[in-house]
Amino acid sequence: MNWLRRPNNEPLWKEEFSIHAADERYVTRRQLTKFLVLTSFGMFVGNVWILIKSIFYKAPSYPQQPVARVGEIPVGGVKLFAYPTQEDHCIMVRTGENEYVSYSQKCTHLSCAVYYSQASNQLECPCHQGFFSIKDGAVLQGPPSRPLPRIVLETRGEQVIAVDVKV
Ligand code: FES
Repeated sequence: MNWLRRPNNEPLWKEEFSIHAADERYVTRRQLTKFLVLTSFGMFVGNVWILIKSIFYKAPSYPQQPVARVGEIPVGGVKLFAYPTQEDHCIMVRTGENEYVSYSQKCTHLSCAVYYSQASNQLECPCHQGFFSIKDGAVLQGPPSRPLPRIVLETRGEQVIAVDVKV
């Protein structure tokens, strides 16, 4: 492959492209300053954007929605409902005479529907044997890493009303 080389053994392409590699890698002070100024400006703009977003951030507000009548289900009974939208399925359990708890029915692992087991008094996900506490939705066992979102309930007169979602 000698025809690809010049007599001084330099590759032939260097003659065609007369780039001085050493000079090409050389960064001038001006280039470095320009790079630093542009990078700093980019970071400044990013921080201003985050600041503006945090100033105008509004926490999501949830509707107040009656989900059951007081005494509609027996102690240990379950009622399913949708909150805050029709696609968000929830499970409500009457845990005492005047006590109701409610959680999203969507398992935090892979979104299977959880159900209430009266025998073990906990919420169970049949897909991969995930178990959640009925008291606060915390993970007791299994692959889920996050607790179930809790639906905040209020009892007003004869109505049990969903008012908020705590993730
Ligand atoms: S989907 Fe519920 S444990 Fe996997």
